[in-house]
Amino acid sequence: EVSEKGEYEHFMLKEIHEQPGLIRNLTQYYFAGEGKESLEKVAAYNPERIYLSACGTAAYAGLVIRDFLEGINRIPSTVELASEFRYKNPILKKGDVGIFVSQSGETADTLAAQSICKKAGVKTMSIVNVDGSTLYRDCDDNLLIRAGVEIGVASTKAFTQQALTGRLMSAAMAGDLKDEGKKVKLTGKFALLAERIDKLLLKSDEIKSVAESIYNKKGFFYTGRGAYFPIALEGALKLKEIAYVHAEGYAAGELKHGPIALIDEEMVNIALVGPELFEKTVSNVHEIKARKGIIVGIGPRGNEELMGLSDFYIPLDFDGLEELSPLYVNVVNQLLAYYMAKFKGTDIDKPRNLAKSVTVE
Ligand code: G6P
Repeated sequence: EVSEKGEYEHFMLKEIHEQPGLIRNLTQYYFAGEGKESLEKVAAYNPERIYLSACGTAAYAGLVIRDFLEGINRIPSTVELASEFRYKNPILKKGDVGIFVSQSGETADTLAAQSICKKAGVKTMSIVNVDGSTLYRDCDDNLLIRAGVEIGVASTKAFTQQALTGRLMSAAMAGDLKDEGKKVKLTGKFALLAERIDKLLLKSDEIKSVAESIYNKKGFFYTGRGAYFPIALEGALKLKEIAYVHAEGYAAGELKHGPIALIDEEMVNIALVGPELFEKTVSNVHEIKARKGIIVGIGPRGNEELMGLSDFYIPLDFDGLEELSPLYVNVVNQLLAYYMAKFKGTDIDKPRNLAKSVTVE
């Protein structure tokens, strides 16, 4: 086990560092490699509605994918937790598509959700890591996320690859596979994301020092708007899973409808402030600051206003990333959770009470 981790202290850290390489390989696999055929099949989809269903981190990746499908393809899409979907008597129509997102392809609730769709005559597709898993075998079509084996119970690289595979699916459905120029452009965007993550990883020590200053605080609110809201949810989940502290992900504009009552000098706000809805999100940070909350700003490099508001600031370079920028921000959250857990001394790769794959209901 020690040798497999190589230079890294934990599998989670190793898996975080694998992300740039995996991102670069994904476009190659789908545009020029073995994945071509499966993506071409998806290009023929023309659904009226898309139902995404998954559990845990995979469900949050589903939210990112939903934003691509609605934003780029303008197809009405919903994401439902599989444990809810399976018992809600969902409204399914032929011509709809069910998409199931999973690392293992063995999660019991996700399999049940797929089976309901299949019985209703809805086409089912997986976005999955494990080739030949039950989900893979049960679905009509599959897109592999090509994350390699993920050992850390807290999912990192699988989330990124799930979301990006969703982006490729969205491109295929938009007809981009027939357009060399569009494929080149998207490949460039993926490469830019990989490059920005590489640079961020070189600055891990800055994130580590923020983690050291805040890991003992009472509670953590991750806030974001739009495309960063799913990232807030995923960031909070990561922290809960491995650092055993209370954390919540919130849509920044919703904070004033309740949770702001909890803000005091022992509460930390991890404010995810990308270029999208920037001013609106900054105004929410002001509200928290006014109640003496500790602000960890994650935002554009050189932004004086946000830097001034923040007790700690993690500058990012968003230029050119566009719709992929949430996945860049997410890596900051992965590292923050990792280092906070390390300072707490928890069992990072095998957190208490959790299993990598939940095969029972
Ligand atoms: C478990 C794992 C999570 C994972 C979830 C869904 O709870 O601890 O990390 O996100 O299951 O797993 P799946 O294999 O379907 O992605």
